[in-house]
Order: sequence, then structure tokens, then C-alpha cells
Amino acid sequence: MIRSAIVPVAGHGTRLLPATKSQPKEMLPVARKPIVQYVAEELVSNGIENICFITGRSKTSIEDHFDSDPELTRVLTEGKKQDLLDELKFEELAAKFYYTRQRVQRGLGDAILCGENFAGESPFLVALGDSILGINGLSRSVARMSELFVELRATCIIAVEEVPEDEVHHYGIIDPGEGEGDWTRIRNIVEKPSKDSAPSRYAVAGRYAFSPIIFDMIRRVLPDKRGEIQLTNAIQLLCEEGKRVVALKLPPQDKRYDIGNFPSYFETFVEFALADPLYGADFRVTLERLLGRK
Ligand code: G1P
Repeated sequence: MIRSAIVPVAGHGTRLLPATKSQPKEMLPVARKPIVQYVAEELVSNGIENICFITGRSKTSIEDHFDSDPELTRVLTEGKKQDLLDELKFEELAAKFYYTRQRVQRGLGDAILCGENFAGESPFLVALGDSILGINGLSRSVARMSELFVELRATCIIAVEEVPEDEVHHYGIIDPGEGEGDWTRIRNIVEKPSKDSAPSRYAVAGRYAFSPIIFDMIRRVLPDKRGEIQLTNAIQLLCEEGKRVVALKLPPQDKRYDIGNFPSYFETFVEFALADPLYGADFRVTLERLLGRK
């Protein structure tokens, strides 16, 4: 089983300005929780015990969120606010948290490299901090990736999701080879191809499992036009070297919520709010009223 995860959260979130001017995009709420809490809860429920956030300037609220707050707990306890105390139960998440900073933003590959000492000699997971898997983060796919990693003696497993043709240019896209059931070999991978050059419609969906050999590959990658070291290029090197690189096709219930821009943020928020056990039913009525259906 894979026990450690690197969660890169260093990006500026420029596509979500002004909301992200002084707060991390990973702390934006989706229904009642910040995005990053869904991610951490998903990882822990999939067997991850150590989580290392690769942060940057103005990301300290992520650290504060997972810390306990004795003052707040005292006030709520004195006020006998058990329901609110229950909302803080996530502070007891069964994982150890680590934080390190990517001092200069040099791309996703470089951010992952900042976690090299944390990962050590064991296989590890990468979970993008702005992507939630499954409604309320209830996905089991990370555990499946971990299982496949061992079963197939893989060097890398990537969760993929089929996207419409006009969205391939937003993602890393795989060139699939032969496979079986929910997985397929990856022959090659291209970062953000045009719709005409895309080798498939299977997009990298924010969760990767790696053997530590990926760090050597990242070191070999040259910066792109924007000076960024792309993780996708390091995976491409794994493919070229004939390593076993495999895609796990996410099951339909594990829809991937990518909170990188306002339209997808709005959609995710509404979908999660509608599914909220406490407020969902009333919110549905409100939404129907707003849409003029009632
Ligand atoms: C990154 C990766 C890309 C992947 C995407 C998933 O891109 O480089 O391969 O498909 O995340 O969200 P970004 O969204 O950081 O531009």
C-alpha cells in the first residue's frame, strides 16, 4: 500500500482572481468545506498516512486549517455547541501533515521535486490540491491505484478521465496502449495538446502514483517556454525508457472536480451544495425558484 502523498498547492490561482488574491485557491469553500479538506479526507480514507503539502507564499491558512485551535474549541465547549464541535472533528484526521515551500514557481514537476526527501525510497502518491474526486471526495480510486501499482509492478499509475474534444487542450493527454478492465498501458503522454494533435480524449485527472525514480526523470526535464518544469515531460521520459506506466480509468461515480476556473468552481459548488445532507433539499427549492421553475 502507498502510505504517503505529496499535495502541490503552490500555484497562484490566477484564473480565480480576485478571490485568490490573498488566500489559496485550495481554501475556497465548496459547499461547507474548503477544497483541500475534501482532498485530505479522501487521501486518509484511501490509506494515506503522511501528507506533504508543497506550499508557497500566502498559503499559511492551509497549515492553520489542519491545526487544532484550542481557543475556538474552548469557546465552543463552554457554549455547549456540540454540533459545531463536530465540524472540527476533521482536526483529528489520522494523518501526519508536513509542509514545505516551493520558493520560486517553476512548474508542477519542480513542485514535486520539493517533496523528494519526504518521499524517500518508497512509492508515493501525488494529489493535486485543486481537484476533488467524486461527490464529497468519496472516491476509492486512490486505493485502487495503490493496489494496481503493486499488482502490475508499475513505475507510475495515473488516474484518467475522458473529456470532450474541446477540453483536451487544458490537460495532460495519454496515448493509451493495451489494457484490461479499468486500466490501460500508457505509450506516451502530451501536455495540453491541440484537439487535432491529441492522441486520445483521456485526460490526467489530478492523481498519480510514482516510484521514486520519477525524481531522476524530473531532473532531466528542461524548462518549457514559460520556464516551467512539466511533470508530464518527466512521465514521457518514463514511457521512453520502457517503464511500466499505466492509466486507471476513473469509474463514473468518481467524476473529477477541477477547481481551476470560475465556471468549474461554480458548477462544483452548486453540485456539492445540492448533495449536502443538511441543506441540499432546501437549496434545490431555492435554485428552482431562482431558475424560474417554481
Ligand atoms: C496540470 C498538469 C496536467 C493535468 C492537470 C490536471 O495542469 O500539468 O497534465 O492534466 O494538472 O488538473 P494545470 O492544471 O496545473 O495547468
